[in-house]
Order: sequence, then C-alpha cells, then structure tokens
Amino acid sequence: MIAILVTLVAVLIQWLPTSASKQMDRIEFVYWFATIICIGIFSLVMAVLIYSVATFRAPPEDESDGPSIHGHTGLEIVWTVVPAILVIAIGVLSAVVLSQNGTAGTNPMTIKVFAQQFAWRFEYPDSDGLKSGELVLPVDRNITFEMNSADVIHSFWIPEMGQKQDLVPGIDTSIVITPTRTGTFALICTELCGLGHSTMRATVEVLSQTDFDAWVKKQQAGGGTGGSGAAVFASNCGGCHAFTPAGTSSKIGPNLDNVAADAEKAGEDPAAYVKESIVDPTKVLAPGYTETNMPTSFGDDLSAEEIDALVTYLTEAQQ
Ligand code: CUA
Repeated sequence: MIAILVTLVAVLIQWLPTSASKQMDRIEFVYWFATIICIGIFSLVMAVLIYSVATFRAPPEDESDGPSIHGHTGLEIVWTVVPAILVIAIGVLSAVVLSQNGTAGTNPMTIKVFAQQFAWRFEYPDSDGLKSGELVLPVDRNITFEMNSADVIHSFWIPEMGQKQDLVPGIDTSIVITPTRTGTFALICTELCGLGHSTMRATVEVLSQTDFDAWVKKQQAGGGTGGSGAAVFASNCGGCHAFTPAGTSSKIGPNLDNVAADAEKAGEDPAAYVKESIVDPTKVLAPGYTETNMPTSFGDDLSAEEIDALVTYLTEAQQ
C-alpha cells in the first residue's frame, strides 16, 4: 500500500516544466525510464523488507542464532543478471540520447552566445551578424549555440528546453536546441558567477519562422535594440545598476539615478561623463567606490548608435 502511494506521488506530480524542445523530450524520456525502474526496485525491496521484519521477528526472550544459510545459486543469478540488464539498458539509452541531443541534423542555424558578468548577448551570423540582448528563436529549427565567456564561468540554461552548457573563458563550447513550441521563456545563468549571478537572466522568445524573419528584418532596419536606450540598458546594464526609470534595483554597481550629480562632482558634462564611464569605466570612479569590476569591453561590444542611445537614456529619462 505504502509503495503504491509513494509510486503515485512520484509519477503523478508534474515535477518537470512542460517540455519546449526535442532535446527536453528525450531527456525526460531517459529521466522517467531510469526513475520508474528505481521506483519499482525500491517498492519491491521495501515490501520484502517490511514483510520480513513483521513475519520473521524473533520473540524478545529468544537469543539463539538464526538458521545458517549458505548461498542460493538461483537467487544470486537473478539479482546479478536483472540489475546488469537494467543498468546496461539505462546506459545504452543515455548514450543514444546524448548523441542525438548533440547532433544539429538538418536545416540548422547558428547563434553565438556571449556571457559576461552579468549579462547575455546574442549574435546571429546567419542574419548578417545581427546582435541582440534578447534571445529570439524560430520554432522547429535545429539551433547550434556557440558560446564564449568574457570573464568567469557562466552556464546557459532554459529550463523548458533541458539542455545546459557551461561558458568557459578561453574555451569554445556549444549545444543544440530544437524549440518545439512558441512562447516566452527565461534563460538563466546556472553557475554561481559573482554578486550579480541571480540577476543574470535574458528573455527567450520562440516565434514561428515567419514572425522570426519579420523580427530579423525589423532589427536590421534599426527598429530594435539599436534604436532604444531602454532596451540597451535592460540587456547590458540592468543586472548591476539601479536606475529608477528602468525599474532596476541591483546594488553591484553605482546607482545611476545620480549620474548628473556625479558628473558635476567630476567636473564634467553629464553626457560626456556617462559615455566615458561606459567606454572606460576605470577612468573616473563614482563617489563611494574605490575599485570597479565593470567590464571594459562595452566600447567594443556596443555599436556607436547603441552607446549614444544609452547615454541619451541615462541622462534624459528622469526628466
Ligand atoms: Cu553568470 Cu551566474
């Protein structure tokens, strides 16, 4: 009875998020294949154990030895052969799924992923090197993610899509994901990478191929991230900086609500001060800071239009 109850709880509760990729479907299959075998064996062992404890219990005054048992060839063969078959089956299935999940197959596309404390950036080489702070994917395409980290180890994970991969400085890593349904998901950094680790997230949008093509066109026409300081801020700066107009509150970097006052203290024009702080963050430190761990690569990573839009946003959004 207990075994049946435990089995029902284990099988009927939805423990995993609803799958949104082919790879997650396969991972779930391996997971439940192994787990159901485990539940079966656990139930069997527990049932025999509890039955034996209840039935063969010696009375309190009986201190004699139990009967001596010397082996049972049939039983030994069974408990060797059955687990061997099960373990081999789990091993073979896992190897097949691992290999399938690593194969890009037909109609593939490539997206480059760059991680740095504490932001994600994406580049679409198949769309003339289009850059984005939001991960937009076409449904039913085999997408190879080629990954790089600028500083420490980060890890790429979209829970509904199963696949998880570390981004390691100096090493090129990759994974394949085939989204199977449209919708909005979250990309989560799942490697403790510093103070802002918990804020290192990006939005994942899975679109139909037609909507995806329209999105690419719109971005290339300048209607996307390049045109909006708020979008550039959200995908690059919000993980570390508090800024009231953007609704962010992280305390890793200086609060940017005070940039005008800080610029005055540094004796500079606010726009020039903000631009300099983005491109060369070590030159002038904000009041109260004795050092900075802000990446020095934004001058190269962001386009001139993105930097201008960001400067305008930071200096004018509050007024
Ligand atoms: Cu990047 Cu945690």
